[in-house]
Amino acid sequence: MIAQKIKQAIRDIPDFPKAGIVFKDITPILKDAELCVGITDAFVEQLKDKHIDAVAGVESRGFLFGLTLANKLGVPFVPVRKAGKLPYTVKQKVYDLEYGTATIELHTDAFEPGARILIHDDLLATGGTVSAASELIQEMGGEVVGFTFVVGLGFLNGRERIAPVSDNIIVLAE
Ligand code: PRP
Ligand code: ADE
Repeated sequence: MIAQKIKQAIRDIPDFPKAGIVFKDITPILKDAELCVGITDAFVEQLKDKHIDAVAGVESRGFLFGLTLANKLGVPFVPVRKAGKLPYTVKQKVYDLEYGTATIELHTDAFEPGARILIHDDLLATGGTVSAASELIQEMGGEVVGFTFVVGLGFLNGRERIAPVSDNIIVLAE
């Protein structure tokens, strides 16, 4: 089962990037090509008939499966980047992380108003990152129609935080 394979592959790194945080290192997943394909396929299987117009993936780990997911769904991939990285005109949002604060940006022409956007990230912790992304997308006229994550840290209640935006929340391993 995919959840079990993901959990077995993930490596826990205590006290990274600061004391008290147990960092979920997904890089061992990336060394397993079959598991990577399985992850993308598991998302696609659950997203049929959702009429998604674009996948927005959050820098940097949200790019890994966000692009393959968009490719498989046959829709555009939209990079949500940290401040100062996107070259064209941008809109931005500041947000809190489990271990600090950050700013995300989107190109102003990332999608058409009314587009049905799926937000993807590798990991759901507090939900601060994808909440900020969903606020930014909504301010730009997009409709957030779901969220996908490879891993979820249930004890941080990210699900509860994002459920008011869309209850179409897929977490492969929790
Ligand atoms: C990590 C992770 C998610 C976010 C989850 O990204 O990839 O984007 O934190 O935390 P949250 O649910 O509490 O917002 P990070 O900002 O560390 O950047 P990275 O992907 O570039 O490593
Ligand atoms: N992003 C936020 N919290 C994290 C954690 N504990 N491990 C990996 N990425 C994270």
